[in-house]
Amino acid sequence: MEKIIKLHDRTFRIMIPAEKIDEAVTAVAARINADYAEKETPIFLGILNGSFMFMSDLIKKIEFNNELSFVKLASYEGTSTTGQVKTLIGLNNSLKGRHVIIVEDIVDTGESIEHMLCELEKYEPASVEVCTLFFKPGSYRKQRPIRYRAMEIGNEFIVGYGLDYDQLGRSLKDIYVVTE
Ligand code: IMP
Ligand code: MG
Repeated sequence: MEKIIKLHDRTFRIMIPAEKIDEAVTAVAARINADYAEKETPIFLGILNGSFMFMSDLIKKIEFNNELSFVKLASYEGTSTTGQVKTLIGLNNSLKGRHVIIVEDIVDTGESIEHMLCELEKYEPASVEVCTLFFKPGSYRKQRPIRYRAMEIGNEFIVGYGLDYDQLGRSLKDIYVVTE
């Protein structure tokens, strides 16, 4: 029988098992390895809290010398975007002249990542690309290309593997989708 879990007031069922996530992470890591092999020590910048599990698995598959740091920028409460974005905290590496790879859990409307990119440009990095575990093409409202998308999904709300529903569900190793 299919496993159903309850988080707060909603129920969720498995959508993507851990093995499928691993395949997608391996594939996106291979692309990054190929693209950055010749670049001077790139820095991976994870966006907390959602990216912690993705970052942990992704970085183990990276074959070039790298640095890693986490920053925080949150915009979500419940299952719909609040439209507000907060400021960037936790950045203590110098990014000037560096190749930066932002690691994000999910790009939905693109508001959060757009804000992040605008903030980062102030530090004058040599380059910035985004690596997101999930991309919702039907929701994305920005022009900027999101270069590395491990997986694409519809407009459904998902949890697990770092992603939360009001702080619950982050520790799940599979991805769950809300049931209607
Ligand atoms: P955006 O600013 O609309 O692109 O939203 C991005 C942020 O919203 C992500 O970093 C997540 O924290 C959160 N988010 C968007 N969609 C989902 C979802 O389906 N599940 C859990 N969090 C989500
Ligand atoms: Mg997030």
